Formats: sequence, C-alpha cells, structure tokens
Amino acid sequence: MTVHFIGAGPGAPDLLTLRGRDLIAASPVCLYAGSLIPAAVLDHCPADARIINTAPMELDEIMAEIAAAHAAGQDVARLHSGDLSVWSAMGEQLRRLRAMGIPFTVTPGVPAFAAAAAALEAELTLPELAQSLVLTRTPGRASTMPPTESLTNFAVTGATLAIHLSIHNLDQVVADLVPAYGADCPVAVVWRASWPDQRIVRAPLVTIAQAVAGSMERTALIIVGRVLAAEDFAESSLYAHGYDRRFRPQDALSRFSGVSE
Ligand SMILES: C[S@@+](CC[C@H](N)C(=O)[O-])C[C@H]1O[C@@H](n2cnc3c(N)ncnc32)[C@H](O)[C@@H]1O
Repeated sequence: MTVHFIGAGPGAPDLLTLRGRDLIAASPVCLYAGSLIPAAVLDHCPADARIINTAPMELDEIMAEIAAAHAAGQDVARLHSGDLSVWSAMGEQLRRLRAMGIPFTVTPGVPAFAAAAAALEAELTLPELAQSLVLTRTPGRASTMPPTESLTNFAVTGATLAIHLSIHNLDQVVADLVPAYGADCPVAVVWRASWPDQRIVRAPLVTIAQAVAGSMERTALIIVGRVLAAEDFAESSLYAHGYDRRFRPQDALSRFSGVSE
C-alpha cells in the first residue's frame, strides 16, 4: 500500500501529468483538497473509489483515513491543487507518514502561476527586464510571514511577483509595491486560471484594486511586473546568430566543436 501525493494542477482536468492521472485511476481511495480542486478532476477516479473531500477535516482525521486505507492494503491518491512544492500542506503529512512507516510517492503538478502565465500568454522572465520570479503571499489568518519575506523587501529586486492567497489584501499589496514598481507598473489578476469561467483583469498597479472592485475572491493570482507589457525587450543570446554554444558550435575552433551531450 502506498500514498500517492499528486499535484492536481490548477483546475482543468487535462492539466494533470499522465503519471498523476494514472495513479488516480489506479487508487481505490482518493483524498482531495476540495477547496481548490474541481469535481471534474475526480472523474479520473475508479467508478467505485472511496472519494473524500479533506477541506472540512483536521489533520488527525486525514491521517486516520490514510491509516485505515493502509490497514486495508488500499492505495491512496492524495490530491492537492497545483504543485505540491508550494502551499500544499504536504510537508506535515509526509512527516506523519514517515513516523507511521507508511510508504508514499510524490508526483508534481502544474502550478497556478504557470497556468496564470499561460492564460496571459506571457513569459515572466524577459532578457534584461526580469530574470527572477518570486512566488510569494501576504499574511493570512492561519499563516504569518517570516519578517524578512515582506512584499516591500521583494519589491527592492524589481523581480516579477506572483502573489498567491492575497486577493483580499489587494489594497495593501498596491500600497507596498507602488514605491518600488511605480504607479504605472502593469498588473494582471487571474481568477481560476484554466477553469471554464477563468477571468483576467489587467490594469496599472495604481488602479488594479479599482479594476477588480472586489469581483474576485479566493482562487486568484496577482502577477506584477514590467514583463507583462514589455514589447521592446532584448532577444536572448540563445538563438542569436553567431552565438557559440554547445548545441550550435560556430566553427571548427569553437570550444564546443566535437562536444556532444
Ligand atoms: C493554497 S495555494 C495552492 C497553490 C498551489 N499548490 C500551486 O502550486 O499553485 C492557493 C492559492 O493559489 C492560487 N491559485 C490556485 N489555483 C489557482 C487558479 N486556478 N487560478 C489562479 N490562482 C490559483 C491562488 O492565489 C490561491 O489563493
């Protein structure tokens, strides 16, 4: 018996990895984080699967379900939205499973920021403009932030920001970012990226709160950065004519000539 932690993606049921889909289809028990995972994703479960929404449950209850499946020799598909490496609460479950001696696997998923960038048809790192993407959030009722991880600190870098779990804090986000990014910095808020009712609101930083006007809650991502409206950015060297590289040696004297792999 194994517990398979699976990144269930941003919402669209076909934005799962093939491995994730196959593990869901092969597991007689499915525990899913129902606050963010739409019912369509559960269509991958076997017809007779035991399917449990863990949104209203406490950690002890979730572990009790897993322990019961373990005792019955039944594999469990444990679904969290997006990818498991950020804000999934997987860490505390793995710690318990290790202590209980229950085997598990981890299968990555498409994170929300990637689905939002796809919806915006945007590359979030453009040459010379932004070469870093900060995945962050603002404090919530259940989570404080380490003091150094403030938006104002990240703003100093000018990196593209993907701000999660913060749509209810939009006014504060704007106040924190205007001094470093400027009132005219482009912002996009993507609500339910990849869901059938996905919505996008774009506006400059100074008017984004007005543009959203409280019309979006919970499942929204705030993307901030000059990359969102850049047209005159430099082209990368990667495909530039005359750029000597391992996969395109320029001549016989290139240090890459004859180098494979
Ligand atoms: C608990 S976190 C989960 C993040 C997830 N593990 C990931 O990899 O993206 C939930 C937050 O992610 C963002 N989010 C998740 N799914 C989203 C979607 N489909 N569209 C926009 N934002 C989404 C929202 O900011 C939401 O408040």
